[in-house]
Amino acid sequence: MARNSRVAWTVAEVEADRSWTCRLSDAGSAELLAAVRAAVQRAGPADKPILDWRREDFALDTSIPVLAAAFHEVRNGRGMALVKNLPRAGVSPIEFRLMTWAIGLHFGVARPQNRASDYITEVRDAGMAYRSPSGRGYNSKAELDFHVDSADVVLLSCYNQAPAGGMSLCASAATAFDVVAAERPDYARALASDYPFSRNGEQSGDEAPWYAVPVCTARDGRIFCKWNRNRIQNAQLLEGVPQLTALQRDAMEYFDRVLRRPENMFCMYLEPGDLQILCNHTMLHSRTSFEDHVEEERKRTLYRLWLARPDSRRLPDSWAVFYETAEPGTVRGGMKGHHYDDLRRSFDARQAKAMGMKA
Ligand SMILES: [Fe+2]
Repeated sequence: MARNSRVAWTVAEVEADRSWTCRLSDAGSAELLAAVRAAVQRAGPADKPILDWRREDFALDTSIPVLAAAFHEVRNGRGMALVKNLPRAGVSPIEFRLMTWAIGLHFGVARPQNRASDYITEVRDAGMAYRSPSGRGYNSKAELDFHVDSADVVLLSCYNQAPAGGMSLCASAATAFDVVAAERPDYARALASDYPFSRNGEQSGDEAPWYAVPVCTARDGRIFCKWNRNRIQNAQLLEGVPQLTALQRDAMEYFDRVLRRPENMFCMYLEPGDLQILCNHTMLHSRTSFEDHVEEERKRTLYRLWLARPDSRRLPDSWAVFYETAEPGTVRGGMKGHHYDDLRRSFDARQAKAMGMKA
């Protein structure tokens, strides 16, 4: 159903048409760094609480059109974008993190990402076990399953690359679903049924430990995908959760194998100074395991930001159980975690106003 849409791509198509990759001009890159350093001088220090920074602290102009084009591609094109040439030489990790945050302040409302209710996270191996009831991939060096993150859009800015491995993988959910529908319509129907997902203990006080949504839902001619093997498997261990049927299990294995077919799985290395932006409704991502540098300052480091965007689409109604609302252009998504307090609530309200969005 989605084959006439650019979001349903094959590897051959995104290799032939690189319009999803763009490069900041040297002037745009210099502007980003200058804006961060000027903001720190005026309103620093650079490591002050991230939620205290305001959009108007960072005067961006030259860099905006390229970044806006990347967000446009994420929404209306392939569902993914790669922006190259963020400043990196001579830039400290704190400055790079703040630069990522500054970009976010210009393009949406950042969302909390974990139990600690952090609004920006460092993707770095901290020895976490990926396969555990509360495991998350971003603090491990394990090979990850294909999955979507839990907000409309995810930004990953690369500060340091691993010496070996850590390859970034992307696949179009629409393409994979179309293939499944053509080859195994029974599996496609199963993927459109409810699957329980665990919140992995990251729920806030007013949220249930699990929720159920289909893996694939068609809405307005598009496929919306919610896929995370760990969370589906972990939910099966929770009390009161309906057990998956054999058909549902087989369907998810088939879906995963289709995603990993060479014609569907696009592989790339993120290099220092790269910014990857993905639509979490349509784009599945993963990465391979990696070996790391020994020296602390050279270890693989990326910064991850989740954004609600002013031009976000209406979601399938069933997704409101996780996103809180299916309404377009609203502040939605994220994992509120255990520390979603007044400080965070007031950031959300202030930034929503700055973006002209409904809180
Ligand atoms: Fe992810």
